[in-house]
Amino acid sequence: MKLKYFAHSAFLVTTGKYRILIDPFLDGNPNSPVKSSEVPADFIIVTHGHGDHLGDTMKIAKRTDAQIICIYELANYLAKNGLKAHGMEIGGSCTFPFGRVKFTQALHGSEVGGIYTGPPAGVLLTAENKTLYHTGDTGLFGDMKLIGEMNAIDVLMLPIGDYYTMGIDDAVKAVEFIGPKLAIPMHYNTFPLIKTDPEAFIAQLMAVGKRGRVLNFGEEIEL
Ligand code: NI
Ligand code: MN
Repeated sequence: MKLKYFAHSAFLVTTGKYRILIDPFLDGNPNSPVKSSEVPADFIIVTHGHGDHLGDTMKIAKRTDAQIICIYELANYLAKNGLKAHGMEIGGSCTFPFGRVKFTQALHGSEVGGIYTGPPAGVLLTAENKTLYHTGDTGLFGDMKLIGEMNAIDVLMLPIGDYYTMGIDDAVKAVEFIGPKLAIPMHYNTFPLIKTDPEAFIAQLMAVGKRGRVLNFGEEIEL
């Protein structure tokens, strides 16, 4: 399995057979190395309705015919706009051709243009014997400990940009709660309000004995 970072909270997971995009905010993302017109996708997982997460989902789904996987209310919003989406809710899981998706809680908001699109979520993605946890946008919450106890997380992707989500100190605590093999910071340096130093996050992780890695924008790693 390969994991590629497009900056902000946008990732591409590539398994032996499938390409799964998560939160593909590309065209409006000043740090994205790719445009929505050039990314491959068989599935698109969206954590919540905010523009920097729903991003270019509709354009990409129309072009590629990728199946969208998201929270039920957001799926209904997409359906009203002519797109089919697989609507789930927090705590529920479902098996897809590429693996299993389970939505977790996230402490945040979710709307598109003033329309409420259900609760925001994080996503647990299990494929090819690896489990990834993309927290979506969230503040720190104690049940991250429970998520870590119940799931052996290989890679955790979590926000560190502060203001709308956890900042570095809370994200370090989140990593301690969840206990992943590797933590990858996201949701930073896209806008002035979320400017921070991802290497400072890695240094703070090392100080508590946890492993993290900053991915360059466009960098792909093999898991
Ligand atoms: Ni958000
Ligand atoms: Mn966001």
